[in-house]
Amino acid sequence: MKVPFTWKVTGWFMVGWSAEFPQGEATPLRYFGEDLVAYRDDFGELHILTGHCRHLGAHIGHGGKVVGDCVECPFHGWRWGPDGRNKNIPGENRVNRGLRLRVYPVAEQHGCVFMWHQPDGAAPNWDMPDIFELFPEVGTAPTGYYRPYPEFSRKTEREPVHPQVALENGPDSLHFEYVHGATVTPQMLDWNEDGQTWSFLTGWPDARSDDPEKMALRIHAHMFGLGGSISAFEGSSKHRLIFCTTPVDDESSDMFYSIWWPRNPGDESEVPPPEVRERVEKQFLVTVWEDLSIWRYQEYVEHPPLSPKDAKPYMSLRKWATQFYDVPPPGLVGDHT
Ligand code: FES
Ligand SMILES: [Fe+2]
Repeated sequence: MKVPFTWKVTGWFMVGWSAEFPQGEATPLRYFGEDLVAYRDDFGELHILTGHCRHLGAHIGHGGKVVGDCVECPFHGWRWGPDGRNKNIPGENRVNRGLRLRVYPVAEQHGCVFMWHQPDGAAPNWDMPDIFELFPEVGTAPTGYYRPYPEFSRKTEREPVHPQVALENGPDSLHFEYVHGATVTPQMLDWNEDGQTWSFLTGWPDARSDDPEKMALRIHAHMFGLGGSISAFEGSSKHRLIFCTTPVDDESSDMFYSIWWPRNPGDESEVPPPEVRERVEKQFLVTVWEDLSIWRYQEYVEHPPLSPKDAKPYMSLRKWATQFYDVPPPGLVGDHT
């Protein structure tokens, strides 16, 4: 999809689940048009660096070896540290102080891995919010839920979806009937723009009640920049979920989805039982991708004739999104500071 803003978005972005990065292993990643290497060092810390070795350009993510807190290039054995600096050159008693791999700050929480991206390499100027510290009125401790990975997590790769477009689903109340087969239209009860956060509360009217104000379900959502949103459900089920979009290059993104489902009373297991798995799979894991059948072929409209219902929150979201664009869109010459 062609969009009038950059895919090199600034913020925190999900790049996978902790379990995908075992201790002592190097893994190749590709995000924001860059080849990257992720490795979990011998102390359990996860690092993400530029993928190509500064010696002769081998991709360290393909065959790199973890040694202590460093990663060793598979081509000639140069070692690189978590600070991106050269730590060892085999057969030489010096290191190359001038060469550096770029370091991408990592935040790991509740089994999910997030990476900070700023096109010029600037350090994070805000923290990734904790998934379980949001909406304290709805949630319980993280231990009250089944593990999200692998049972309740899904990923789809290289989709032509810009992160902003995925988040625009939030204030779009009128697509639920058509795309998701909803029998009622959700109501935007409250929304708020605050720094890097755009949050909202929607209510799903109770179809069995004559009172239009009576809600069967309320969904609290918190967008952490454009990387994704964290939501908590307040209804017959009280689960939490995260839905993330991470640009791979200037035309596609990987999308990540994880659900924390409350444990059955008395169940001590981390692993969800078969009947819970089946229910969550059918109701939530499949339907989340319904929007993709629109997004894959959609064209971005800059000045949409929005319904009066959606116009205010929609335009607020679009305006808020501009703060994460530190560089001009691809193909547009302009200065960036
Ligand atoms: S290319 Fe990495 S050590 Fe030579
Ligand atoms: Fe949707």
